[in-house]
Amino acid sequence: MKLSIIGSGYVGTTIAACFAEVGHDVVNVDIDEDIVASVNDGDAPIHEPGLDELVEKHAGDRLRATTDYDAILDTDATFLALPTPSEDDGHIDLSIMEAGARSVGRTLADKDGYHLVVTKSTVVPTTTEEVIAPLLEDESGLELGTDFDIGMNPEFLREGSAVSDFLGPDKVVLGSQTDRAAALLRDVFDPLVERAGGPPVVETGVREAEMIKYANNAFLASKISLANDLANICKEYGIDSEEVLDAVGLDSRIGSAFLGAGVGWGGSCFPKDVAAIVAAARDAGYEATMLEAAVEVNDRQPVRMLDILREHTDPSGARVAVLGLAFKPGTDDVRNSRAIPLIDALLDAGADVVGYDPVATENMREHFPDIDYADSAADALAGADAALVVTDWDEFAALDDEFDAMTDAVVVDGRSIVSRRDGIVYESLV
Ligand code: UDX
Repeated sequence: MKLSIIGSGYVGTTIAACFAEVGHDVVNVDIDEDIVASVNDGDAPIHEPGLDELVEKHAGDRLRATTDYDAILDTDATFLALPTPSEDDGHIDLSIMEAGARSVGRTLADKDGYHLVVTKSTVVPTTTEEVIAPLLEDESGLELGTDFDIGMNPEFLREGSAVSDFLGPDKVVLGSQTDRAAALLRDVFDPLVERAGGPPVVETGVREAEMIKYANNAFLASKISLANDLANICKEYGIDSEEVLDAVGLDSRIGSAFLGAGVGWGGSCFPKDVAAIVAAARDAGYEATMLEAAVEVNDRQPVRMLDILREHTDPSGARVAVLGLAFKPGTDDVRNSRAIPLIDALLDAGADVVGYDPVATENMREHFPDIDYADSAADALAGADAALVVTDWDEFAALDDEFDAMTDAVVVDGRSIVSRRDGIVYESLV
């Protein structure tokens, strides 16, 4: 089939390359000429394991990129994979999606025959029906349900495993309003589903598909927050929370994934998506108490780290090493990293902060240009009074003699990853 993907950011580039891999002819439309040139040269514009190989393999053949929206005219379906950033009050900013929908609509005015426009971006329920579809209709002059249809196909990609998550999904969710759109979406995903060994395909409505994405992320984020709440209780009683949560995870109704207690969840999705669905619920007249509590627990974890530090040392004037700046290991992404509120709180308390991360230093420098950054964990620890561990990079598990170079070796471990040893005052957060 012929597919057009609007947007070549993180999701757009990944799905474009993966759709090409399963046999579709794909054109990726983006306004950024550098990104377009990069894809056409066979270079992935973002770093994701396996993506470079796919872009290199298919560029110039089943995958091409362009800045010209007319490219969608020669395709069967268009996927909108544009950013939906957060506003301060948690609502998502739809302006980029709206501009994309207008451009697609204007282009479709010249379309001969039926077309399907699918929302791939994460948008709150009813956005595709009530915002995207009217823009497409107004700009194209075409009739929804006759000349064209809308669909919604949420994405469950994790950073660092986006390609394998797309090619080997736990489930495929296809939202549509008409039989024709449902059949077309099925045709798009059949080769992927077959290749992936037949994961469940959920055929549903458009707003249900939108909600499934939020429910999925809200559930996972809440699961971590619940684990953190329980682990905090364990800590008060001197109980090993890891043993408790490992045992709890053995119940097949609960499962062991996303029970990793610690300093909490960050990244580009969980914080944004939970805030957006809470804000959307409030607009609809419902107070999402459980999700608000999940956010509150998550906000509390970095503060608790500082409280634990205070039990051992006064942060004011102390040299404090923050180990790990990325929101999770395996990425240089610092968006909503727990290191950000922690460093803010340390600076407020008058600490002299030195940060270290194997790959995320440059990105964190944009948030905190004035703190020190070390080139290695050993350098960060040398002369420090305390160390706070924020990201579970494997290399922190191997730290040992490096602690001897600390002035006063107080270690507060936000990811329960450092090996306890003599000579350090060790406290895990949970
Ligand atoms: C997440 C979802 O997993 C993915 O399905 C969705 O499409 C996008 O959001 P991602 O943001 O890449 O993916 O990260 P993920 O691996 O899910 O981790 C999110 C955060 O939760 C990280 O900060 C991580 O450190 C934290 N986390 C994860 C925990 O604190 N404990 C855990 O047990 C698991």
